[in-house]
Amino acid sequence: MLDVEAIHTFYGRSHALQGVSLTVREGEVVCLLGRNGAGKTTTLRSIIGLTPPRRGSVRFLGREIAGVHPYRIARMGMGYVDQGRRIFPGLTVDDNLEVAQNGRAGPWTKAEVYRAFPELTPLRARLGRHLSGGEQQILAIGRALMGNPLLLLCDEPSEGLAPLLVRRLGALLRTVTSRGLAVLLAEQNLRFALDLAHRGYIIDKGQIRLEGPTEALRQEEVISRHLAL
Ligand SMILES: Nc1ncnc2c1ncn2[C@@H]1O[C@H](COP(=O)(O)OP(=O)(O)OP(=O)(O)O)[C@@H](O)[C@H]1O
Ligand SMILES: [Mg+2]
Repeated sequence: MLDVEAIHTFYGRSHALQGVSLTVREGEVVCLLGRNGAGKTTTLRSIIGLTPPRRGSVRFLGREIAGVHPYRIARMGMGYVDQGRRIFPGLTVDDNLEVAQNGRAGPWTKAEVYRAFPELTPLRARLGRHLSGGEQQILAIGRALMGNPLLLLCDEPSEGLAPLLVRRLGALLRTVTSRGLAVLLAEQNLRFALDLAHRGYIIDKGQIRLEGPTEALRQEEVISRHLAL
């Protein structure tokens, strides 16, 4: 459903992505692993159109979307949970969900989000700024689901969360993906990502260094060569 082919993305003259290619098939959970500054966020932003690639192709559901406005890409069925989970601090949980509707029909409604993520229910009236980091992350994913995406791009959802919350987040994402939602998950937390994903890519210095099934990416030798700090 997503085919990224040899994209090059720049920040000014800095050549951040140098020919990145990857694919996500329907219903697949694919992780994108890499150290700090490797190019994970830039890859997701290039796909959703926030930092459009200067060269290369991004096809989603058979259509070329490189250069298309992010809002239109979202309307086609691509959700995005950005790094740092930017929810609206001055809106309640309920309103954060409400405003995330984009008119796409599908299984996800507010009631369905509260059903799938029951920890949000008692927080309905709480302001975004008064949520814990874990609650904000869960809300950020709920917001993305309100757009009824077919593919969800998720940028380091486990970042800054305590181990218990990371486990809970993994369970929530598994619930969501078991309903057929495809996910491209950028992560530095290898265990979290490899437990969720079917396949993965390792990115470093703006280039894909390795691609394979999660068992292959778990190998000590792979981790020490490409991912150790
Ligand atoms: N707004 C920006 N302006 C200039 N350079 C940037 C900008 N954002 C990122 N970069 C650079 O682009 C490269 C890739 O950064 P990116 O944020 O994609 O990495 P990342 O893999 O998401 O890292 P992290 O794990 O820290 O989030 C880095 O060298 C970074 O310094
Ligand atoms: Mg990042």
